[in-house]
Amino acid sequence: MNEIKQINIGLFGVGVVGQGVIEQLAQNAVIISKRTGLNLKITKAVTKTPLKERAVSLEGISLSDDPEHILNDPEIDIVLELIGGIEEAEAIVIRALKDGKSVVSANKALIAENADNIFKTAYESRGLFGFEAAVAGGIPIIRDIKEGFSGDDITEISGIINGTANYILTQMTKAGKDFGTALKEAQEAGFAEADPTFDIEGVDTAHKLLLLMKIAFNGLFEFKELYTEGITKIESIDIAVAEEFGFVIKLLGKAVNVDGKFQGRVHPCLVSKESLLSGVNGAFNAVALKGNFVGETLTYGAGAGSHPTASAVVSDVVAIARQLKAGTGNLVPPLSAEWGSLKMQKIQPISETVTAYYLRFTVTDEVGVLAKITKILGDHGISIEAMQQKDRSKSKSEAVPVVIFTHQAKEENVAQALSEIDALTFIKEPTKLIRIDL
Ligand code: HSE
Repeated sequence: MNEIKQINIGLFGVGVVGQGVIEQLAQNAVIISKRTGLNLKITKAVTKTPLKERAVSLEGISLSDDPEHILNDPEIDIVLELIGGIEEAEAIVIRALKDGKSVVSANKALIAENADNIFKTAYESRGLFGFEAAVAGGIPIIRDIKEGFSGDDITEISGIINGTANYILTQMTKAGKDFGTALKEAQEAGFAEADPTFDIEGVDTAHKLLLLMKIAFNGLFEFKELYTEGITKIESIDIAVAEEFGFVIKLLGKAVNVDGKFQGRVHPCLVSKESLLSGVNGAFNAVALKGNFVGETLTYGAGAGSHPTASAVVSDVVAIARQLKAGTGNLVPPLSAEWGSLKMQKIQPISETVTAYYLRFTVTDEVGVLAKITKILGDHGISIEAMQQKDRSKSKSEAVPVVIFTHQAKEENVAQALSEIDALTFIKEPTKLIRIDL
């Protein structure tokens, strides 16, 4: 076997993450070389703006705006796809893999939504494929699942896996900031997606959860079957009432495998202040897993930003470089399971979910209102755990909030009850429903 002394890396995208990778490979070159016996070197980069000033030194990197600069170079061993977007990124990843190059991508939208093409090509390629940076920034959760828990049957995943949404909710909760101000701060810090609706509408969380489900549950799942709801309807009153009852509101990605029946959903949740996830604040991420032998685990770290995301990209580069050096080929399959064993699985509709609920009704303050609401809930088998009405309205027409916490109920029953309640004349706004994490 020929020992590879230098691994040549071609970088697509010299943005926030790309610059972090350049910086890390330069700054940690000695320690990485000790660990691999190799010199990992970015020899070429492709960017739409090769002449633009960058905060990091690009010395020794040959720059171009032509993708062929890298794709057509047989000396390039590993291609880094850090440009984001779909069509162009997909063409780069597929072409490089088909040519037998190894690829590292941080592009969760691409990998989650165009997965069939990407993974089929990756499994068939002589090249290796890493996407650690696509989920939870610097936390090596993909490697944890694929290698650390490779002997476990994973039954549950609960994750705070979007830094921007978590930053916004934390700022609203702890600093009393409004939604717009907090979002602007996240954008300025470089956490948010180019299209921030992906962050605040739960889409980015859903991309990441789908990848975790495939790896942890060893099945293929359709992105469109994942229930996805963001944080844009969360108001400060919900945060305040949740707090009084011992909860914080978090955007969770949650997936459960009960004997081969799969749940997958993304939505805001009331999380008990006693739980570990409740203490995950700002742009930090955390993923809690349950395995049938390991029990409960929690990994925590920076979920976004230049350096943490670069750390995940570089960890893939190191893993691939070691395998290239050893000539092993793909030691760990890209999705953890053998390709032939991966079957398309259904995700249960949200209507099947059984959980507890926070319901905020906006009602006119008149005799009999509560009796009517609780009767409809009771008719649908929904039992009440706690209730709060603080304010009295100053006039007959002014609406007041009434909050009810329910015991566990099936979502389709709750939805049916709410459609009946919301049709009543004393209900002034559609009732707010937030699920409670159990
Ligand atoms: N927009 C993403 C986030 C970046 O806020 O978590 C990291 O994937």
